[in-house]
Amino acid sequence: MSQKLFMVSLGPGDAELLTYKALKAFKESDAICVPTKSEDKSFTKSISYTIVRDALEILGLKKEIIPVYSPMRFNHNDWINEADVILKTLQTYKKVSFVTLGDAAIYSSIYYLLDIIKEKNRVVYEGCEVIPGVTSFSAASAEVQKALCLGDEELLIKPINPRGKVKTTEILMRPKLGMSTQELGDGEFYTFENMYLKDAKITPSKIQKVKKYMTLFINFARR
Ligand SMILES: C[S@@+](CC[C@H](N)C(=O)[O-])C[C@H]1O[C@@H](n2cnc3c(N)ncnc32)[C@H](O)[C@@H]1O
Repeated sequence: MSQKLFMVSLGPGDAELLTYKALKAFKESDAICVPTKSEDKSFTKSISYTIVRDALEILGLKKEIIPVYSPMRFNHNDWINEADVILKTLQTYKKVSFVTLGDAAIYSSIYYLLDIIKEKNRVVYEGCEVIPGVTSFSAASAEVQKALCLGDEELLIKPINPRGKVKTTEILMRPKLGMSTQELGDGEFYTFENMYLKDAKITPSKIQKVKKYMTLFINFARR
């Protein structure tokens, strides 16, 4: 059987905010790699560990838990070490989950790790599945019952302590049917149409004309 890596978003802290796909990944996994900030690899300060422990309790399952020392220093060598732990775990266990808080798309280290995994083991990289989750700010909005965007408002997510020049990813929603996308400008566009539906389509560029209301565009920051 071939190796399989799941990058699982854990949501903001409550195991009940895990997705069904995340639970399925845990069920399928032989081992779960859990980041910890503690040098001794204990989980005393790990929120991720608490969520995984609660999830396994909900599922009534026991899985091998592998600590991954993640000092959060924004250091490339740390990411190399973390990726190595994941790849080493995949040598012992066929299916492995690595977990990340909130949603993997938002300030998570998983894409730094995946860049390294891509170089070291193309097969694992290409077979990897990223599982999305509830972001901290979606949960925060629900907690206080206040919308993040209504009507013509837009939403801004900013790093409070940037290390350098701030780049922007734009998410463009609610297009008009038949509209030309010329006015959306240029960039690293992807178009997502009818996601998860029968005629779902992801185009790695900006489509010329909007054919479906359920279309969104992401203009990714140039990295
Ligand atoms: C490295 S980012 C990870 C964000 C995460 N991937 C997400 O989707 O929300 C960590 C930051 O997210 C926010 N955050 C994450 N979980 C949170 C929670 N349970 N309560 C409040 N803020 C949280 C805080 O601003 C924290 O500094």
